[in-house]
Amino acid sequence: MLASKRILLIISGGIAAYKSLELIRLLKKQGADVTPVLTRAAQEFVTPLSVSALAGEKVYTDLFDLTDEAEMGHIQLSRVADLVVVAPATADLMAKMAQGRADDLASTLLLATDTPVMIAPAMNVRMWDHPATRRNLEVLKADSVSIVGPNEGDMACGEYGPGRMSEPSEILDAIATELTDGPLKGKHVLVTSGPTHEPIDPVRYIANRSSGAQGTAIARALVALGADVTFVTGPADVDPPTGVTLVQVETAEDMLKAVQTALPADAAIFAAAVADWRVASATGRKIKKQNGKLPVLEFAENPDILASVSRMTNGRPGLVVGFAAETDDVIANATAKRVRKQCDWIVANDVSPETGIMGGSENAVTLITPDGAEDWPRLSKTETAKRLADRVAEALA
Ligand code: CTP
Repeated sequence: MLASKRILLIISGGIAAYKSLELIRLLKKQGADVTPVLTRAAQEFVTPLSVSALAGEKVYTDLFDLTDEAEMGHIQLSRVADLVVVAPATADLMAKMAQGRADDLASTLLLATDTPVMIAPAMNVRMWDHPATRRNLEVLKADSVSIVGPNEGDMACGEYGPGRMSEPSEILDAIATELTDGPLKGKHVLVTSGPTHEPIDPVRYIANRSSGAQGTAIARALVALGADVTFVTGPADVDPPTGVTLVQVETAEDMLKAVQTALPADAAIFAAAVADWRVASATGRKIKKQNGKLPVLEFAENPDILASVSRMTNGRPGLVVGFAAETDDVIANATAKRVRKQCDWIVANDVSPETGIMGGSENAVTLITPDGAEDWPRLSKTETAKRLADRVAEALA
């Protein structure tokens, strides 16, 4: 997959540096060449010897190492790669990058390079949330640095939250996407997926049977074609795809906000099974049994995310695709839905229980466009996703 691609891997000093050893192993397995650079602090976490043994190459550590300058100057070192990857990227190195400082080999290479740069941040949750880091992140994004992660979870420092470096396999997928010259290279595609959960009280919620399988397969197929995918998902049964910008939400209202934040996009695919109603009378306290008296739930209508994006007058994605989950008059209902919601295409499917589609591994869809209805055969959700991704690529070409 990455044969003959050269990665300049800068490892900065954080506990996550140990994961970079696994990243090197995965990159080598995919046929990539890895030129490793360690900051001084990184050498407190991993040794140059182990890095060099895995990479099968010399490790660069010091800006003023004259032997290295004779072999390969730092300017040249920064430019021979197809991609510069910083994993882990500490808050300190991000700050240096944002300011354009060059006081050691890693920061000098990053300032001298004309190659695309990707960073996998890793730091304590408070450092990640600090306004200074948020500012630096925005500067780096504006400088076209691509960002992988960080993930949310337990941290080595004992705290919990966002700041954990992405897993090596996720970084590998992001690298592969960055270096893939597919037809959707440079296109931003937004995908919604999964069910939404609408709370009744802190312990109960209203949900639906969507597993998130079709939306996840679509995101994977788009990534494989080189798209830059933002994946907004409700609480799904299946694992989210890798190589995407992942946004996890619970409710329809949160999903709408996440979608608005993720725009602009070249295309948007709304595969989520969004709850039509939320419980307006949802309470912050658990509803208790009351001697046989039944609770009364009041409902309010949720925002229609697909319709609101389709009707945007400013910054509407060039292609908006909705899904229609129907049990009766599938084509007629879906055709009317396309017009009513003002999207460009509708992928219609019959979700009657006997079809086994909702929650299953296969799908049988009809693609409805302004040109009419096109029946696709019953295929695995993966194959259906690939067909749809190919059509999206044709439409955006
Ligand atoms: N959708 C959405 N926001 C909602 C409801 C639906 O974005 N609040 C999107 C879904 O992601 C899907 C499409 O609208 O792409 C159609 O969803 P579906 O459930 O089939 O349609 P509804 O609008 O719910 O209409 P109905 O329940 O009357 O069939």
